[in-house]
Amino acid sequence: MYKKISKNGWKVLSSIFHYMWEYEFVPSELIAKRSGLPQEKVESILRKLAGEGVLTTKQLSYFGAAFTFFGLSLFSLKRLVSKGVISMIGNKMGEGKESMVYNAISDKYGEVIIKFHRVGYPSFKKVKEKRDYGSLHFTVLTVRSARNEFRVLKKLVGFVSVPKPYGWEGNAVVMELIDGKELFKVRLTNPEEVLDMIIEEVRIMCERKVVHGDLSQYNILVSSEGLWIIDFPQAIVLEEESEELSSLSFKELKNLANELLERDVKNILNYFERTYNIKRDPKEVLNYVKFF
Ligand SMILES: Nc1ncnc2c1ncn2[C@@H]1O[C@H](COP(=O)(O)OP(=O)(O)O)[C@@H](O)[C@H]1O
Ligand SMILES: [Mg+2]
Repeated sequence: MYKKISKNGWKVLSSIFHYMWEYEFVPSELIAKRSGLPQEKVESILRKLAGEGVLTTKQLSYFGAAFTFFGLSLFSLKRLVSKGVISMIGNKMGEGKESMVYNAISDKYGEVIIKFHRVGYPSFKKVKEKRDYGSLHFTVLTVRSARNEFRVLKKLVGFVSVPKPYGWEGNAVVMELIDGKELFKVRLTNPEEVLDMIIEEVRIMCERKVVHGDLSQYNILVSSEGLWIIDFPQAIVLEEESEELSSLSFKELKNLANELLERDVKNILNYFERTYNIKRDPKEVLNYVKFF
């Protein structure tokens, strides 16, 4: 599909990306204005791309179009290629709850992965938007989720063991390929030591004012070289800037961070208790890791 899309097709997609923040279905008239193509031509391109699963179209009081997950991912990939972040895409490596992960090659960074996000913030979904845009398309949430993951990885890299972040476009985040397995797939010979390592990573995250929010045996990769924490779209950064990004007040954000931290710590301790019969007091661990 990537190779089949024409130059005008990309122009149309780029215009939809530009307006998707304001319109659930972007009017063909606006796409025509922005792309410099005649409206009739635009509508025929929209119908064609809809037939190929890249877009969905809708006849409202106007004719409009929106990205599908597939279309948004293609568009994000195109941007990553244009910016020189990605030069080849490989196989699908995995499909998580909220993403599709592909192997890729970057001229700059070597072997990397591309994570295409497909839903928005689970923890913020229910919170009403401060600014009312009308109904937002889900693609807006997926872009926010990718942006948040990239932002958090940038904040943590060098301090906490996370994949190095290399790029973000639309719903796609490019990061270092980790050669490891999910914690739940591995039978550890040194579980006490690994648990201590995880708690230490959580403590440093707190020092950086970050709470993961979905920490579990599924989001920790391990190998004989060490461990890595992954999967940060829902993470909270406790700083003033987050207030604007999340539509929560600072106080609400802090309460949420505390709740999520407690859940993260309990998840990990429960897993180690169930699997390795290691007992730790969650209160003590929480006191050790948290600063806020
Ligand atoms: N940097 C990475 N290196 C290697 N594998 C990864 C990396 N990031 C994610 N994966 C793989 O893709 C899966 C899904 O990614 P994850 O970030 O956990 O998203 P989801 O929200 O879909 O669970 C992971 O469980 C892991 O197997
Ligand atoms: Mg995951």
